Amino acid sequence: MKIYTNPYLFTILAVALICFSSCGDNNTPANNSKTTNTTSDMKPDIESLLSQMTNAEKVALIHASSSFTSGGVERLGIPELIMSDGPHGVRHEHGRDWDKEDIDTDKSTYLPTGVALASTWNTDLGYEFGAVLGREAKFRGKDVILGPGLNIIRSPLAGRNFEYLTEDPYLNAQMAVGYVKGVQDQGIAACAKHYVANTYEYQRHYVDVLMDERAFREIYLPGFKAVVQEADVLTIMGAYNKFRGTYCSHHPFLLDEVLRKEIGFEGLVISDWNAVKDSMEPVETSLDIEMGTDLSMLGQGLPLDYSKFHMGDALVEKLDKGEVDVALIDSKVRRILEVMTRINKFGERTAGAYNTKAHQAVAKQVADEAIVLLKNEDILPLEKEPVKKMAVVGANATWKHAGAGGSSQVKAYYEITPMAGLKNLFGDDVVIDYAQGYDIKKDAVATQEQIDEAVKTVTGADVALYVGGSFHGYSDEWNDNAYDAEDIDKPDMMMPFGQDALLKAVLEANPNTIVVLFGGASVDMSEWHDKAKAILQVWYPGMEGGNSLANIIFGETNPSGKLPITFPAKLEDSPAHSVSSYPDENLIIDHKEGIMVGYRYFDTKNIKPAYAFGHGLSYTTFDFTGMEVRKNGETVSVSLTVTNTGKMKGGEVVQIYVKDEVSSLVRPEKELKAFKKVFLEPGEGQEVSFELDKSAFSYFDDKKMEWVLEPGKFIIMAGSASDNIRVSGEIDM
Ligand code: GLC
Repeated sequence: MKIYTNPYLFTILAVALICFSSCGDNNTPANNSKTTNTTSDMKPDIESLLSQMTNAEKVALIHASSSFTSGGVERLGIPELIMSDGPHGVRHEHGRDWDKEDIDTDKSTYLPTGVALASTWNTDLGYEFGAVLGREAKFRGKDVILGPGLNIIRSPLAGRNFEYLTEDPYLNAQMAVGYVKGVQDQGIAACAKHYVANTYEYQRHYVDVLMDERAFREIYLPGFKAVVQEADVLTIMGAYNKFRGTYCSHHPFLLDEVLRKEIGFEGLVISDWNAVKDSMEPVETSLDIEMGTDLSMLGQGLPLDYSKFHMGDALVEKLDKGEVDVALIDSKVRRILEVMTRINKFGERTAGAYNTKAHQAVAKQVADEAIVLLKNEDILPLEKEPVKKMAVVGANATWKHAGAGGSSQVKAYYEITPMAGLKNLFGDDVVIDYAQGYDIKKDAVATQEQIDEAVKTVTGADVALYVGGSFHGYSDEWNDNAYDAEDIDKPDMMMPFGQDALLKAVLEANPNTIVVLFGGASVDMSEWHDKAKAILQVWYPGMEGGNSLANIIFGETNPSGKLPITFPAKLEDSPAHSVSSYPDENLIIDHKEGIMVGYRYFDTKNIKPAYAFGHGLSYTTFDFTGMEVRKNGETVSVSLTVTNTGKMKGGEVVQIYVKDEVSSLVRPEKELKAFKKVFLEPGEGQEVSFELDKSAFSYFDDKKMEWVLEPGKFIIMAGSASDNIRVSGEIDM
């Protein structure tokens, strides 16, 4: 058993308070408008440049020139386009510019991961999150930050759930729009990925995703459509997988028909790294840049020949022989030059910012609002004063996650673990007895000795914490990632390393132990859930996560996170593993559940989850009263008053669900169509109002191939969770 005493006197981080107004659906306009992003604007004459370029020079622009750049034309003053991962922090240099010895200048702000951001349900925070990414990418000389990840979380097992946002298309769209605006208002391009339906990691380069048209239009496309039409996203990344038999990164229907023609996307389609699997399809479809078609992406430093891409030398030859219409290439080059102009690539940009207290304060604010209080049998918040000694069990209490997980890894400027957060809060005054409980090592299982030590540690402790769940990787080596990571899915919903037996023993020894879970999705809690009095889901809460967790446990912060995904009681309750199934060796992933993803399925089939979409407790209570539903032509106004009826300031998310009472096609029991997060002082009431347009009542008719609003009665529900409807009204459309 290790005894921790505080080696330094920690001064509690004076975290700059970022005052967020109560959040609306629209984002606070950025104070740093686009004009502040440039010190000199330079707009080249694109048609003149194009007319001067040889075929070889045009082709140089449409494929990688290194692991994270696409080509330029020095002769004409066209620079390379510089990209960087990832969705929750600017990744360390590991491409051509990788200086392995350089240990400081490529550290960055490690924000909470996507699913944590979505758990805030705070669109203003989504904007601030994107703005931090955009400023740090600009500081590091990047043109494109490769995020947000918008794939729908449909299975608890998918390795990259932590990087994505949610199971719900509306929440996905709202959080992504804020994020993209935040990035691009810094004069940098965001990259919405992975278009479309990269919903597992298993054989991701080769699987073929099938789904019906309604699922595509109502669930999987909306996030991408929203960032194009509401946030003017400048780049979109084609996914690895096939979609209905054709590779996404050069898919005529997905790229030309849907993205370009229907949605009006004029930005760049960039392939995922090594996602181009054909030589002519990418030329004939509107893929603009082919990335990573070799091992260069791992920065292996191999002197790779960048002309050997599908859209490389071989294409130049075909162009020179007139076998390929050069107009196809010109349209790609034109879009590349237009996006370069939009991000002022030919001029001078302002410097951006890097590892600032303000950025760390955003990371803290997101973590504060992301942590979800799942269960609390009147045990939290704990009193801070009387605590002299506490017990902490679990390797996740001291494990750092930032540097693993795959391409979204971040060399964090720092990462406050739960243990460090407790030490920051209590300083020297408190002794912490610690037992690791389990090893984060391949195939490790908590030994009886480790369990005994953990039991001894919590027995009799006034305050006991168990910190476990899932984790990121064993190390920052790319191929050594496990569990919540790219390129690998989880084998089941059980916590790894034999944690169930350990946690059961710990709860037996001290029923007041607070359970804290890391992870990108839910775990199976059935073995120990009823014994736990308090459970917190922290996701991967970023560099300030330990401080946020400690502040929430001891009541300095009132939790306001709400689940952006359903937590099934067991795997087979998940529609992805009952209606549909995990892909087998034939590499077909048929999304047979269609539109019934997440709570849409659980509510419609009346299956009780462990914890419902939109669930999250507070230390205070809220009343929803006075709901009014009024029709104004084709829109419906909804208003109600939310009142904080408790003793502590707190945040509540008013969730508006719509139910179509009678429809000619099957529709879910309810669908999220609006939400608003409000922060209220004790006793304070606030009217919240929503305008629902016809899209809130429509469904996609896959026979007519159009959105349909069928006349009839609709129920409009206001809830503090999808399974906790507080007030409702109805309207005839
Ligand atoms: C990876 C990922 C993608 C990432 C890219 C560059 O394989 O799928 O999300 O941005 O390659 O690292």
